Amino acid sequence: MCGIVAYTGNKKCKDILIKGLKRLEYRGYDSAGIAIISDSAAARSGPAGLEIKVVKEAGKINIMEKEAGVLKIDGNCGIGHTRWATHGEPTKINAHPHLDGSGSIAVVHNGIIENYAELKEELRKNGHKFISETDTEVLPHLLEEYYNGSLLAAMQKTIKKIKGSGTIVAISSRQPGEIIGARITSPLVVGISEDGNFLASDIPAILEHTRNFIVINDFETVRLTADRVEVFDRKGKVIKRKPFKVNWDIGSAEKGGYDDFMLKEIFEQPYGVEETMRGRLIDGELSFNELGLTAEQIKNLKKIQIIACGTSYHAALIGKQVIENWVKIPVEVDFSSEYRYRNPIVEDNCLFMAITQSGETIDTLAAIREAKSRGAKIVAITNVVGSTVARESNSVIYTHAGPEIGVCATKTFTAQIMVMYLIGLYFARTRGSVSKSELHKIISELKIIPQKIQNILKGADKIKQIADKTYKHTCFLFLGRIYGLPSAMEGALKLKEISYIHAEGYPAGEMKHGPIALTDENTVVVGIMPAGSVYEKILSNIQEVKARKATIFSIISQKDKNTKKYADYIFKIPETLEELYAILTIIPIQLYSYYIAKNLKRNVDQPRNLAKSVTVE
Ligand code: F6R
Repeated sequence: MCGIVAYTGNKKCKDILIKGLKRLEYRGYDSAGIAIISDSAAARSGPAGLEIKVVKEAGKINIMEKEAGVLKIDGNCGIGHTRWATHGEPTKINAHPHLDGSGSIAVVHNGIIENYAELKEELRKNGHKFISETDTEVLPHLLEEYYNGSLLAAMQKTIKKIKGSGTIVAISSRQPGEIIGARITSPLVVGISEDGNFLASDIPAILEHTRNFIVINDFETVRLTADRVEVFDRKGKVIKRKPFKVNWDIGSAEKGGYDDFMLKEIFEQPYGVEETMRGRLIDGELSFNELGLTAEQIKNLKKIQIIACGTSYHAALIGKQVIENWVKIPVEVDFSSEYRYRNPIVEDNCLFMAITQSGETIDTLAAIREAKSRGAKIVAITNVVGSTVARESNSVIYTHAGPEIGVCATKTFTAQIMVMYLIGLYFARTRGSVSKSELHKIISELKIIPQKIQNILKGADKIKQIADKTYKHTCFLFLGRIYGLPSAMEGALKLKEISYIHAEGYPAGEMKHGPIALTDENTVVVGIMPAGSVYEKILSNIQEVKARKATIFSIISQKDKNTKKYADYIFKIPETLEELYAILTIIPIQLYSYYIAKNLKRNVDQPRNLAKSVTVE
C-alpha cells in the first residue's frame, strides 16, 4: 500500500510531512523517509543555493523523525513516504524517497512497476546506476532521462513508459517550490489551503491543515506550487476540477470512514486480489520468476507439502484442491504446529510451501527449519517483505494485500487464495496438465474475480440485516463440501474469534456422524452451496438440519432459484467456475461474522486473547 504526503507553501515542511506520515502509518510501516528542497547554503545541484536533502530509515517513522531532527534539515517544499515493501527488503537503502543520478530529483511511489526489470536494463545501457533493489528507483532515473526543463512533462512521459499501478510524487531542486504528482491506479488527493498546497495518499494525512480537497483520477497528473494547483488529463490538457469539503474527524478518516479496520480491510479485497495478480498475470500470460523453479523442476515435481496455521491453513486447503485438480500431483497440508513434531518425511522432488501472512508465526518458522534440516527447499507465501519466514526461505511469493491492521485475517486470506490459484495454473501450464482452451477459460474468469468481489460487497447491507436477525443464536455451524469446505472452516474461525460464539466449520456430509446432535432452534446453519458438482448433496444436508429446527442461511450462486424454498435467508454471489467460488463465498461470511460481532458490541479489531502475529508457541 505505502503512504505518501507532500507539501509546498509558506510554512516549513518537515513537521507537516512527518505528522502526515504518522497518520498514514496504517498503510505501511516498515521504513520511512522524507526529501526536502533545503534552503541550506550548500548548493550542489540546484539553483539559488538549493539542494534536495533526504532522510530515510528502516523501521517505524519515529526512527526517521529522530534522524531528521539531528540533521536539522527543513525547507518549504518536500515529499514523504511510509513504506510497505513489495520489491526489496525494508532496509534504509530501499526506503523512499529515491534520487536520480544527479541528486536533483526525488521520488516517492506507492504501487508496483511491472516492467521495472526491462526499464532498469534500458536505463543502465544509457549510463544510469542503481543502488537499491526496488522497482521504484527506475522512476527518478526515467524522470532524469526525460527532463528537459519541465518536471511535469518528464512525469507525463514517464507514466506512459511504465506498466503497473501506483501513485508517483516528485520534486526537483531545479524547480524549487513545485511538486508533481501522477496517479496510475492508487489513490491521490490534493489538499488546498491558504498556507500552501498538499498531496497525500489519503485524506487523514492532511486533514488537520485543510478541509478542501480535490481527487486525482487514473492517469492524471497534477502540479502544485504554494498558491496554485493545476490538474492535467492523460493527454496533458488542463482539467478544471472543483474542490469538495470534508467534515470527518481525524479518527474516522484514518479508517477511511469505516467503523473498524476489519470492515475497511474486507472492503479492500478487490484491490488486494488485483494487486496480487499484478505482474503474475499479464495479458493472459502467467509469470512466476519469484518461485525460482525451472520448467524442468516443475515437470519433475512428485508432491507438494504445504504448512500453515489458522486462516493461512484454510488457504492451503483451497490450494490443495485446485493444485490436485489442475496439476494432478498430490498435495499434503499440515498444521505447522503438528508438522514440526511429527517426524515428517521429506521426499525428493517434493516442493515445500509455507503460507503465513505475518511471516513471523513461530510454529510455521519452526516447521520450515525442521523441513530444511531434512533437505527441503522452501517457498514462502507471505504478506510481509523481509519477515523472518521470508528471510529463511529459498524463495518468496508476496501477497500484495497491503498491511492488515485488524487482528483477524481478511484481505490477506483472499490474497493467499489468489496466489494458490496462480501457482496452480502456472504449474498446470508448465506441465501441460490442463488443455490450452481450459486454461484460457480459467484465466479469463480469474481476471474478473476482483470485480465480482466488488459486486458482493455491494450487498453488505443485506448481510447486515441477516446478522441483525440471527446474532442472538448460540451455536453456528458452517457447512460446505469440496471447495466450500475451507470457506466453512474459515467462517467458523472468523465468527469464533471476533464474536466469542461457539461455531464449527464442518464437511456437510459429515454432519450425520455427530454434529447433527447439536442442532436445535438455537442453531444457525450457514450453508456454502454455490452451483457445482456437490450442490444437490449439500441441499439435502441443509434439509436434514432444517428438519431439526435450525435456522438456515445459504450462500448460493446467482441463478439458483431452488434453495430459497428451504432456507430462511439466502445471499446470492456472482457465478464463476466451481474451483474459484472459494474466493467469493468467503466475502459474505466475513461480513456476516463482522456484523454479528458488532451486534454483540465486540472489539472486532482487537479480539480478546489474540495477537496479529503469534510469535510464541
Ligand atoms: C485468523 C488469524 C489467525 C492467523 C494465524 C496464522 O483471523 O488471523 O488464525 O491466520 O495466526 O498467522 P500467519 O498467517 O501470520 O502465520
